[in-house]
Amino acid sequence: MEDDILELYPSCGQTHALKGLYLQQIPDTDGPFIYTNYICSLDGRIALPAEDRASSQVPPAIANARDWRLFQELAAQADLLISSARYFRQAAVREAQAELPVGLAPDFDDLRAWRREQGLSPQPDIAVFSASLDIPLETLAAYADRNRYIVTGGDTDPQRLEPFRDAGIEVLQCGDGRDVDAADLKHRLASLGYRRVYAIAGPSVLHALVEGDALDRLYLTTAHCLLGGREFDTIAWGPEFSPARNMPLRALYLDRHLPEGAGQTLAVYGR
Ligand SMILES: NC(=O)c1ccc[n+]([C@@H]2O[C@H](COP(=O)([O-])OP(=O)(O)OC[C@H]3O[C@@H](n4cnc5c(N)ncnc54)[C@H](OP(=O)(O)O)[C@@H]3O)[C@@H](O)[C@H]2O)c1
Repeated sequence: MEDDILELYPSCGQTHALKGLYLQQIPDTDGPFIYTNYICSLDGRIALPAEDRASSQVPPAIANARDWRLFQELAAQADLLISSARYFRQAAVREAQAELPVGLAPDFDDLRAWRREQGLSPQPDIAVFSASLDIPLETLAAYADRNRYIVTGGDTDPQRLEPFRDAGIEVLQCGDGRDVDAADLKHRLASLGYRRVYAIAGPSVLHALVEGDALDRLYLTTAHCLLGGREFDTIAWGPEFSPARNMPLRALYLDRHLPEGAGQTLAVYGR
């Protein structure tokens, strides 16, 4: 493939192929290295309400195949994905954007083969954040070939956890409250042996990870267009961080191809 990604930082002027840009990026550290990835517009929108469905969605004006390839490359390196109950509720009414990665489309055959070559499991395991436990069990059954976890707070009624345990799904109760304490989660994932954990949920999950000092790296694609809108999601939602969390820039790339007529910058922040 053409070397058509222009590096702006740190090695300004170098060019790269899109394919492989985000492969072999995630370090193999002792504890779990937790990373996430978003695509947003110039005005910071990651999701807008959709006319024909109940749930919000990634705006079609910014979603694009080149960013999706990078999303899949990050997933290919993970031994665990962090998803949310929202994804499974959307899946139950056929509103989920796609199957959980690594995608089964032929475009990603190379990534599934790469996992095998690295000695990784065929697909990453799945951890589902939920306080409500409103998760349609049948949607979890679609991933029975992977280890699955429900991640919830410590004060959840034990009886409500039984259906999940009966279905072979492990429960991780983290912290003392209704919501997940991500600092506790990170310790639990370390003791379970997870090393590369890819969070692909939304703004409240990201907020919990940052609040618990559990997020190591943020991959952020900015599509060069403005979307406006009064109701929207941005990358983190929850109480103000105090102090603000610093995420220094590690790398910055320019992709001129998509979205068409706009292009996008690919930024990597954090450790
Ligand atoms: N553009 C992008 O790159 C991108 C990336 C990700 C998501 N999105 C979009 O952003 C929108 C919002 O995403 P989302 O609803 O998945 O985001 P979310 O705000 O992270 O929350 C999803 C669910 O996760 C559970 N949850 C969150 N924090 C929790 C905590 N601390 N403890 C326990 N459970 C917790 C809750 O489940 P319960 O309600 O069951 O308690 C919550 O409803 C969606 O339209 C999605 O498609 C866009």
